[in-house]
Amino acid sequence: MFVFDPYSPAIDADPFPAYQTLRDEFPCFWSPQAGTWVLSRYADIVSAGQDWQTYSSARGNLMTELPNRAGATLGTTDPPRHDRLRGLVQHAFMKRNLESLADPIRDIARTAATALAGRSEFDFIGEFSSKFTVRVLFAALGLPMGDEQAVRDQAVLMVQSDPLTRAKAPQHIAAYQWMQDYAAGVIAERRARPQNDLISHFSMAEIDGDRLDEREVLLTTTTLIMAGIESLGGFMSMFALNLADHREARERVVADPSLLPDAVEESLRFNTSAQRFRRCLQRDVQLHGQTMRAGDFVCLAYGSGNRDDRQFPDPDTYDIGRKPRGHLGFGGGVHACLGTAIARLSVKIAFDEFHRVVPAYRRTDAPLQWMPSSTFRSPLRLGLSVQ
Ligand code: HEM
Repeated sequence: MFVFDPYSPAIDADPFPAYQTLRDEFPCFWSPQAGTWVLSRYADIVSAGQDWQTYSSARGNLMTELPNRAGATLGTTDPPRHDRLRGLVQHAFMKRNLESLADPIRDIARTAATALAGRSEFDFIGEFSSKFTVRVLFAALGLPMGDEQAVRDQAVLMVQSDPLTRAKAPQHIAAYQWMQDYAAGVIAERRARPQNDLISHFSMAEIDGDRLDEREVLLTTTTLIMAGIESLGGFMSMFALNLADHREARERVVADPSLLPDAVEESLRFNTSAQRFRRCLQRDVQLHGQTMRAGDFVCLAYGSGNRDDRQFPDPDTYDIGRKPRGHLGFGGGVHACLGTAIARLSVKIAFDEFHRVVPAYRRTDAPLQWMPSSTFRSPLRLGLSVQ
């Protein structure tokens, strides 16, 4: 009997054969292990992402949701509340002005890359990408430098779940609580002394007299920390993994860095870190001969939609010339990622600088250890040897 269990270490390690079976044989599949339906075909995921009236995010969007988050953040509300939150946060992003972040991001990338000079082997995550992403996030949000390691450690724990109980373990919940207490302190500080950073801007943002309330500011800050550290850091490690495994692609982007943005888009399609998010049905839906009931959870398997040959020809080939328009690496519909511009800019600059110092590398032979998470997929460590 076919089983799809997004909590199993085997799916963390390689979800793609199971995705193929889902798409071809069980396009609307009930997973008892996850307690959710799974949509795996590109077209079904896109339709569900647009139809928020049916596929609601208000009971959470993470496969294993964190306490108190549902109904209070961008990712966990439906329109019109979601539109209001998104408008206010977007307003803050505009005020922070992405262009002005490019130079600080480059400095951060250069420092992190220079520290690798002369090394023959290193852990890409521990020694480059996590240092880089956490500092970028600190610069954008306006978090006090010096707290980077603690914030990163807690952010990475917060998105994990226990593969045995399929729930958040006490250490995951404690990490989330730590992050909220930490964010509350920073918000109070910024309110007293506003600066040109995202937290100051969105705690003050006002559109037609409307502002975020205390809980919204707190949970938005926590969500941005999680998105920034785990989504961006996780994606950077997946991108490095793709380039390490595809030597010709890597040689092309190193020789011509203007190809980097195309390679990034193809990695977001081919093997992204944001694999699966969840919705809750507001009405009964018939799909592919199955009846899903109001109140049921539905998993949108973005990582599978991105490998659907009904949408992307030859989907299991990593082809940096593909230009995969409409890929689901940043999700889609009303909840499409709000951080796409900062993520694209950061990854481009990071790999420009990384390749200047380490132009040729391959994976060391150690088998990868994957983060236990039903939503995200990225290795805990990525050993690279310099060629
Ligand atoms: C390459 C890195 C990233 C990837 C792969 C990624 C992926 C995603 C995905 C798939 C979603 C949709 C979730 C859903 O369907 O429920 C999402 C939403 C979101 N992302 Fe990202 N993300 C990245 C970086 C960032 C960054 C750097 C930020 C901000 C600092 C950010 C902020 C957000 C926010 C606020 C949402 C919720 C949007 C909404 O519900 O309206 N993301 N992201």
